[in-house]
Amino acid sequence: MMRNFDEFTITEAVLERVASAPDPRMRQIGEALVRHLHAFVREVEPTQAEWAAGIDFLTRTGQMCDDKRQEFILLSDTLGVSMLVDAINHRRPEGATETTVLGPFYVQGPPEFECGADISGAMTGLKLHVAGTVATLDGSPIADAVVDVWHADAEGGYDVQRPGDPAGRARLRTDAAGRFQFWTTRPCSYPVPHDGPVGQMLALQGRHPYRPAHVHFMIAAPGHETLVTHVFAAGDEYLDSDVVFGVKDSIIRPYTEHPPGTAPDGSVMGERYATLSYDFRLK
Ligand code: BEZ
Ligand code: FE
Repeated sequence: MMRNFDEFTITEAVLERVASAPDPRMRQIGEALVRHLHAFVREVEPTQAEWAAGIDFLTRTGQMCDDKRQEFILLSDTLGVSMLVDAINHRRPEGATETTVLGPFYVQGPPEFECGADISGAMTGLKLHVAGTVATLDGSPIADAVVDVWHADAEGGYDVQRPGDPAGRARLRTDAAGRFQFWTTRPCSYPVPHDGPVGQMLALQGRHPYRPAHVHFMIAAPGHETLVTHVFAAGDEYLDSDVVFGVKDSIIRPYTEHPPGTAPDGSVMGERYATLSYDFRLK
């Protein structure tokens, strides 16, 4: 008989029901979901009002999403789940550049620029020269790799968070020696969007919403695993408390400030500027 379930028998009953999923992976996922969700409820023993609040939280998380805002990714990020999935899928970096979260501000089909261009658009602030190389694990340069970059402005905002043209966002290609470079403006540390349910959750958990300053990179080349990472600014006050747990030592570099003078690409700078460089290795 499949009825009269109580708190001691209901988990087994649901597990039996989902065990008939024809696809084995779906069965495994369904069973783990039921076991862990039931264990969560047994541990927490929510009141009816608390369970309703949980449902309402997830409902509002969904309602907050549109083509520019992905509150569920933010929820996954701030609970450390995005970095856990990332870690499980990059267990043996074998000398490849370490990965971190994609985040919600990547835009498909970014504007294309020649190496050396200034990609900052309407962004203002300290000029930053970014240079790097892309190579295989044994150090051979990768020519014509697609290097997508995006970053926040000096106030910590992304172009997509306000009206206007793309800024601080580009697609470049490496040259025959695997090199790329561009000018932009130095990004600042910033809070992840916290005017929605995830922001309320962070406040209730006593957490700040900040990420340390960084430039995002997504680097793709035929025959190689696409690399999704950032280069974080050395010395940033949030390196040890990144709200999405994305910082790794190997992807921190100085954003070095310089007095007026000749920049690495030979441009003569009449004002202070900064430089950043990173050599990427693709699996
Ligand atoms: C970002 O770095 O753009 C980001 C990552 C995770 C959540 C929010 C923002
Ligand atoms: Fe970011």
